[in-house]
Amino acid sequence: MSCIRAYRRILEKYLNVESISLFWKGRVALYAILKALGIGKGNEVILPAFTCVVVPNALIYLGAKPVYVDVNPQTFNMDVEKIEEKITPKTKVILAQNTFGLSSDLDKIREVADKHGLWVVEDCAHGLGGTYKGCKNGTVADAAFFSTQWNKPFSTGLGGIAVAKDTEVAQRLKELERRAVKPSKREELMLKALLSIREKVVSSDTYWLALKTYRFLSQKNIIVGSSQGYELERPVMPEDFLKGFTQTQAKKGLEYFQKVNGKYRIDLIIRHRKRVANHYKKMLTEFGLEPPYEPDYAEHTYLRFPLLVKDRKKFFHLAEKEKVELGDWFLSPIHPVQKNFELWGYSYGENPIAEFASGHIVNLPTHEKVGDREMERIYSFLKKNKDEIIGCRVPI
Ligand SMILES: Cc1ncc(COP(=O)(O)O)c(C=O)c1O
Repeated sequence: MSCIRAYRRILEKYLNVESISLFWKGRVALYAILKALGIGKGNEVILPAFTCVVVPNALIYLGAKPVYVDVNPQTFNMDVEKIEEKITPKTKVILAQNTFGLSSDLDKIREVADKHGLWVVEDCAHGLGGTYKGCKNGTVADAAFFSTQWNKPFSTGLGGIAVAKDTEVAQRLKELERRAVKPSKREELMLKALLSIREKVVSSDTYWLALKTYRFLSQKNIIVGSSQGYELERPVMPEDFLKGFTQTQAKKGLEYFQKVNGKYRIDLIIRHRKRVANHYKKMLTEFGLEPPYEPDYAEHTYLRFPLLVKDRKKFFHLAEKEKVELGDWFLSPIHPVQKNFELWGYSYGENPIAEFASGHIVNLPTHEKVGDREMERIYSFLKKNKDEIIGCRVPI
C-alpha cells in the first residue's frame, strides 16, 4: 500500500470519519473546504481577529470577505457573544478556531449558525487530539481542517487535512484533491531535507538561530517555507496554490501513528504536552499568577502555552540571550502582518482584546523535546523575570 493510502486510512480511523482529503498545507485544505461549500464572490466569512494571515488569504482567494470578531480575553478564541452582530445576509460561514489547542464553544456557535443558516468550519490547525464535550476536535462542525506544518500537534513538515460531514461536500473535496497540482520533485526533496535537518539539528540551543534562518529563507522564497514572502505582503492567490500531498509527507505522518506500549505516538505527544503545561501552571501559581482558564466544555491540548508579558520585545531579547525557546503566536490579529491591514479587510482598532493580546503574547513550548532540563531552565528564566509577566488573561 502506498504511504499516502496508509496515512489516509489511519487518519480516518483516528478521527473516526468516513473520508479525509489531503493537501500540501492546512491553508490549502481550508481553501478546498470553502470552495467545496460553494463560497465565492460576495460571500462573507466570520473568523477570529487572532489568527494567521493565511486564513483570511484562503477566503479572499475565493472572492469572499473576511469579517473579524474580537476574542475572549481568557480563551483567545472568538467571543461567541460578539458573533451575531457581525452577521449580514451575505454571511455563509463561521470559522471556529482551536487556538493553542483549545476548542471554541461549538454548541453556542452552532446555535447562532442554525438561526442564520450558516456553515460552521473548525480551524483545527492547533487542535488535533483535543476534544469538545468528549468529541474529537474536527468532528463536531460541518467541516474541519488540520495542519501538520512544523509547529503543529504532529508534523509532516507541511501538510493539510480536510474533513466534511456532508457526503456531497466530502465528494467535492475528493475531487479538488484529485485536481490539485502535484508538488514538484524539487519541492518534495527540499521538504525531505528540511525534515531531516529539523530532526538532527534543532534543539533549544539552536532554536533562535534556526527560526530566524528558516523564516528569512522562506520569506525570500528561497526554500519551501510554511509561508512564502508574497503570502504575507498581499492576499493574491499564488500560482498553483491548490497543491496536493506527497509520499514524503505521508511517510513522515505515519511515524506518529506507530504504536508505543499500545498507544499511538501522537497520543503520547499530546499527553506530554499536557504534562508540560501542568508544570507551567504550577510555576505560575507559585509566582502568584493565575494559570490559563480551562472551560469545562473542552480538553485543552496546549500546542503552546500562552503568556502575556509587559514588554514583549524585551522579553524575547532576554529569552534569546539565555537560549530559552519562546514562540510568537500571534504578533498581530492577522499574524505576522504589521502594516497594510486594509488589504485583508482588517480595520485596526476594532478588536481591542485581540490587539492587546497580539501586542503582548509569548508562548512557552510544550513539544516532545521539552524535557526536565528545559523545564528547569524555563522555570529559572520565568522566576528571574516574573515582574515582566502580566498573566494568562488579557486585562481588559
Ligand atoms: C490558526 C491557524 N490556522 C491555519 C493555519 C494554516 O496552516 P498551514 O501552515 O498548514 O497552512 C495556521 C498556520 O500556521 C494557523 O496558525
